[in-house]
Amino acid sequence: MTLKPLAGVRACVFDAYGTLFDLASAARGCADVLGDRAAPLTALWRDKQLQYTWLLAAQGRHADFHQVTGGALDFALETLAIDRPGLRERLMKLYMTLDVFPEAPDTLRRLKNAGLRLAILSNGTPAMLRSLIAGAKLEGIFDAILSVEEAGFYKPHPKVYQLAVDRLSLPSSAIAFQSSNAWDAYAASAFGMQVVWCNRYGQRRERLPGAPDRQVKSLSELPALVGA
Ligand code: LAC
Repeated sequence: MTLKPLAGVRACVFDAYGTLFDLASAARGCADVLGDRAAPLTALWRDKQLQYTWLLAAQGRHADFHQVTGGALDFALETLAIDRPGLRERLMKLYMTLDVFPEAPDTLRRLKNAGLRLAILSNGTPAMLRSLIAGAKLEGIFDAILSVEEAGFYKPHPKVYQLAVDRLSLPSSAIAFQSSNAWDAYAASAFGMQVVWCNRYGQRRERLPGAPDRQVKSLSELPALVGA
């Protein structure tokens, strides 16, 4: 089914982890040690990482995403009783250079060639995001690389989405925000952005404020939605 294009989009803003970059690729890269525990480790690591961002926020505290990611990994390794020398360091190193999803580089170039402005808006620290972009050879493609560290709040605080509005000098309605994380997609929609939920993981819809405007399975469907 052809989806109706969005109107008035001047910039495309992307979530990083799970949307542009495959967070399962870290554990996959240690399959020699993890075997069939790679997938459960990825799932628990990710769940705990996100929970820690929300729990810290609820306490009015902050630790950056690198620290939170390390703590969540320790929790997941201990829970799954995985204890191998050097494994933690290997996984954390791989997390800095996660695989880019195969369709993302061409999609980004097509959007850029069509004159759209591009940005990343992520919980990742500036150093983590720079490293992912360099690893995927995507330097120079983004007009802005926006880390929550600039806002001092994690997603889904509205101040995070406001960063994109401020840095791109565009109204929220002129921004198409792409995320594979349903909760992130709903929050950006509630904030006022146009939202394309890239539902790679077959998530259920959230019962939260917001309503993503379009749902796709891969970013390759995005250019047609924004006239690129
Ligand atoms: C990010 C996480 C939420 O990149 O995927 O912000």
